[in-house]
Amino acid sequence: MDLQIIEPTESVDFRTNKRLLNRYRFVEHEIVRTLAGWLPAVPHMETKLDVARLLWEDAQHVQQLYLRLREVQNPAFRPPDDPALERLMREVIHAPSAEDMLAGLFRVIKPALVAAYEWHSTQTFANPDAPTLYYLRHILLDEQAQLEWANKALADCPVGPWENYIAALLAAAGGVTGREPRDAAPEAPDCRKIFTAPREAARDARFSLDMSSISRPADDDRAGQRLNGFRNYAQEVLAAETCALVLYLTPDMPWEFTYDLARHCYDEARHCRLGIEWLARHGLDYTAFPQNTRIYAWRSQYDVPTQYALLTMGNEAHAFSYRRKRKREYEKIGDRLSEQFVSYDMADERQHVAFGHKWLPELLQRSGETRPLEEFVADTMALWEREYVSGALPIHPANLGDS
Ligand SMILES: [Fe+2]
Ligand SMILES: [Fe+2]
Ligand SMILES: [Fe+2]
Repeated sequence: MDLQIIEPTESVDFRTNKRLLNRYRFVEHEIVRTLAGWLPAVPHMETKLDVARLLWEDAQHVQQLYLRLREVQNPAFRPPDDPALERLMREVIHAPSAEDMLAGLFRVIKPALVAAYEWHSTQTFANPDAPTLYYLRHILLDEQAQLEWANKALADCPVGPWENYIAALLAAAGGVTGREPRDAAPEAPDCRKIFTAPREAARDARFSLDMSSISRPADDDRAGQRLNGFRNYAQEVLAAETCALVLYLTPDMPWEFTYDLARHCYDEARHCRLGIEWLARHGLDYTAFPQNTRIYAWRSQYDVPTQYALLTMGNEAHAFSYRRKRKREYEKIGDRLSEQFVSYDMADERQHVAFGHKWLPELLQRSGETRPLEEFVADTMALWEREYVSGALPIHPANLGDS
């Protein structure tokens, strides 16, 4: 008589579900941090802008897993309680290059994550655990698109010792679910490079960093002002880079801060794209314009609260009157594209200033800052006027050396 093979169903019970969701949340969260840490150091501009989107998408996934986890356990955020998985996610950042880092994440970990989500979706109790299924189904849409992105973005990147190392670490953790037989932990390859938070913003060879050819158009030069405005948008990746650095440097801040900052970072990458698109629609190649990476280096020399205050209370809070004026001008001359772009930008920027107001008190408190908030902000605005608005952007050697 034939033995009937019965596929196991509903193998994920309540306890296993929590254990797995903790692992997924941890993996997604560490990917957000790794991408943020690396973002300023990614040289290729379009890849860098994509990294901002990818880290925001993964922050969405952490958020969705968090929403489910807080319904089944308290506290919602727990370590995965698996040293091998923790080692894997601690190691991914120490890649020898941006491409290796991306290959480790998107060709090793993400495919395993997708397989785990798909398997999980078939194995949990469908009706009782429907909220998990809902989130996984939507997360999978992003993750599958991300794998397609990686196929193209990393097409020319051969598999190397770093990627093999990450694969071996994943195998040592029993895969994303921890259910697979575990191999012995591998030794790190010679190419491993200890990660330090980038204090310089990388640009690929297409860009000049020399700003001497750029001069401010006269106030009555409307066309020059408009071009200058959108050329500046095409540099807003500098703000995305500061957001990414701040996100990376604040592992102990509440999750909601990381979540807001992931959005802030992605918005600035979108503003950069908005400048790129505007220039392209006017027949201009944005790589022909220099990028003032000195701004990032200058901001990065300061502590986290100062960096975030320089950005949100300095650049962002002060841009509204200028932008409103431009928006009115564009409306008047019937320049719909420019007017629409500035409208969307201002909507984002209002959020960014609100993020500054929301988070600076806690950033200050955690940094041990003794000045009251108002005094700290006033001092930081004086610094902004003195060093940024003046165009001096001095780097003070005494500020360097920590990372
Ligand atoms: Fe994700
Ligand atoms: Fe912006
Ligand atoms: Fe902004």
